[in-house]
Amino acid sequence: MIRFEQVTKRYPDGTTAVDGLSFEVSEGELVTLVGPSGCGKTTTMMMVNRLIEPTSGRILVDGEDIATVDPVLLRRRIGYVIQQVGLFPHRTVLDNTATVPTLVGWKKTKARARAAELLDLVGLDPKTFGPRYPDQLSGGQRQRVGVARALAADPPVLLMDEPFGAVDPVVREQLQDEFLRMQAAVRKTVLLVTHDIEEAVRLGDRIAVYGQGRIEQYDTPGAVLGTPATPYVAEFVGADRGLKRLSVTEIEPDDLEQPPVVRLDEPADRAAGRLRAEGARWAVVLDAEDDLHGWVGVEELAGGGTVAALVHRMKSWVPVGAPLKQAFGVMLQHDAGWVAVLDGARFLGVLTPAKLHEALRRSVDADALGVPRGQVDFDSVADA
Ligand SMILES: Nc1ncnc2c1ncn2[C@@H]1O[C@H](COP(=O)(O)OP(=O)(O)O)[C@@H](O)[C@H]1O
Ligand SMILES: [Mg+2]
Repeated sequence: MIRFEQVTKRYPDGTTAVDGLSFEVSEGELVTLVGPSGCGKTTTMMMVNRLIEPTSGRILVDGEDIATVDPVLLRRRIGYVIQQVGLFPHRTVLDNTATVPTLVGWKKTKARARAAELLDLVGLDPKTFGPRYPDQLSGGQRQRVGVARALAADPPVLLMDEPFGAVDPVVREQLQDEFLRMQAAVRKTVLLVTHDIEEAVRLGDRIAVYGQGRIEQYDTPGAVLGTPATPYVAEFVGADRGLKRLSVTEIEPDDLEQPPVVRLDEPADRAAGRLRAEGARWAVVLDAEDDLHGWVGVEELAGGGTVAALVHRMKSWVPVGAPLKQAFGVMLQHDAGWVAVLDGARFLGVLTPAKLHEALRRSVDADALGVPRGQVDFDSVADA
C-alpha cells in the first residue's frame, strides 16, 4: 500500500535526514516508526503526503508513484495527525472534525453527520463535545478530535506523528487502547511515528527501528524484542525487553494449568471428600457448561447443601488472548498466586507465575527460531 524505494532526503543545508530508505507497508497494516529524536521519522512521514519532496528515490501509494499525483488530491486520500493537533480555535469541535469533508465539497449536513459519527468513534459524545471549542477540551480530548478529523474523509491511509505525545502517561494508555480498538474496526493503513519503544511495540503490527537516517530493523514487535538485528537495536529496545515482551505475548490455552474443579450443583460434602483425597485445598467452581462461577476452599465445604451456596466471586481473571502483562497486573492487583483464564464465561484454566515465565521464555525462543510458540519445546530450550 505504501512503498519506499531507495528514498533519500537531503535538506538544502546538507543534512541527510534519510538515506536510501526502502520498506513497504501492507494494506490495513499499522507500522510504527521508532527511534531517537532527529533520526528522520518526521521527514519520512511528510514525504508520503508530499509536504516534503525526496531528493532521490520513489514512493508509491497504492501502486502509484506519488510524484505524479497532484498533492492536493493525494492528501485527500491520506489522513494526517500531528502532536500539536492544530485544531482551529474559533471553530467548534464538530466543525473542526468536518473540515476535510467540507473542503472536498460535501453538503454541510452530511459533513456534520459524518463528523458526529467520528466523534462517537473516538469516544467523544457528539452532543456534549460537538458544540464546544478546542480550548474547552482536555489535552487527551483534543488529541481524540485530531484523530476524528483525520478520519473524516475516510482516507485509506493515516499518517500519525507522535499523536499521543502531548498527554500524560495514563491518558496516553487510554488513547492507545481506544486507537487500537478503532483501528481493529476501520483497518486503515497506518504509519505512526513515536520515540517511545513501548508505544511502538504496543501499537505496531510491525516496527521500523530507525538509526541515523536508516532503518536498522523492520519486523514484528516480538522479533524486534526477541532478536534485535544489530547491537544498536538491542541497545535501543533496552535491557528490560523481557518486560516489554509481556505486553506483546498473548495467553494461549497451552500455557494454562488445570486446578481441581468442583461443580456448582455438587453436594458440598461429596466435593470436600474428593478434594481431600486429591490433597487439594481449594477448587474452581464451574457449572455444567464449564462456565466459571468462582472458587471455594475445602474447609468451607463442610455441612449439607450444594457447592452453589459457598462460592466466592473470582476477582482475578483475564480473557484468553490477553497479553501476559495484563495477567501479571491482575495477579499483583489482587495479590493472587494465579489468574483464571476465560473464553467468554467458559473456564479454560489458570495461569501461574511459573507458567507465565514459561510462556515468556517460549515466546522469546519461538521468535529466535522463527516458528510458532506452540512448536517450541520448553524443556529442551531450558536444557540448552
Ligand atoms: N527543514 C529542514 N532543514 C534542515 N534540516 C532539517 C529540516 N528538517 C529536519 N531536518 C534535520 O533532519 C534530521 C531528521 O529530522 P526529523 O525527520 O524531523 O527527525 P525526527 O522526526 O526523527 O525527530 C534532523 O537532523 C533534523 O535536524
Ligand atoms: Mg519528528
